Amino acid sequence: MSKKILVTAGPTIEPLDPIRYLSNHSTGTMGYEIAKECVKRGHEVCLISGPVQLSLPAGVDIIDVETAREMKVRVMEQLDGADCLIMASAVCDYRPDREEAQKIKKGGSLNLKLVRNPDILSEASGKEGLIKVGFALETENPVQNAMDKLKAKDLDMIIVNTKSGVEDPFGQGKKRFVLINAAGAVKEFADIDKGRMASHIIDEVENLLK
Ligand code: CTP
Repeated sequence: MSKKILVTAGPTIEPLDPIRYLSNHSTGTMGYEIAKECVKRGHEVCLISGPVQLSLPAGVDIIDVETAREMKVRVMEQLDGADCLIMASAVCDYRPDREEAQKIKKGGSLNLKLVRNPDILSEASGKEGLIKVGFALETENPVQNAMDKLKAKDLDMIIVNTKSGVEDPFGQGKKRFVLINAAGAVKEFADIDKGRMASHIIDEVENLLK
């Protein structure tokens, strides 16, 4: 049966001045693959994306955002009636405490003050039975850290991958993922591309939505 699935993708960018911003290396590939897979299976998909260089999968409604705060507003607007929220975006946890109106000119050393952004996934609550799926990218203790996030953010599932040594989780290519469900069951997927991983994730989501 067709469900309404809300997917976030890509990085957020947090402006310092009209020229510069803080961000991360997210390319949006995972979120776009998930959106594509949902459409393939006949679900209604809304994709809320930070700035990425990807072409939009056919049949997907897109909402473009830049900052974490914009992403939060758009997610909250779209949650009404959603069956599932999949947060594959790399949301910046911090932003500069102010955006300068004019370009910052160089001088001596420059201290930046950063303030916390909202945690969208923790704050998202929708209709009864909303399925919440998170992602985690870790440089150490991936499974333990992901399990802690699963509990702290009250998730139904979390998918974790690692940035360490030769492991590069960004962009295309074969990656290693660990999927953990709310009961703590751990499944490992080695050497898998993000398209196939998206299909496993949506299998799990469809089971939860039955
Ligand atoms: N997330 C979110 N809002 C934030 C930060 C993260 O909704 N401000 C979501 C991400 O989209 C992801 C999940 O929460 O699905 C975990 O993100 P991650 O950055 O790994 O976790 P944090 O809770 O921010 O933990 P930390 O950065 O301290 O590892």
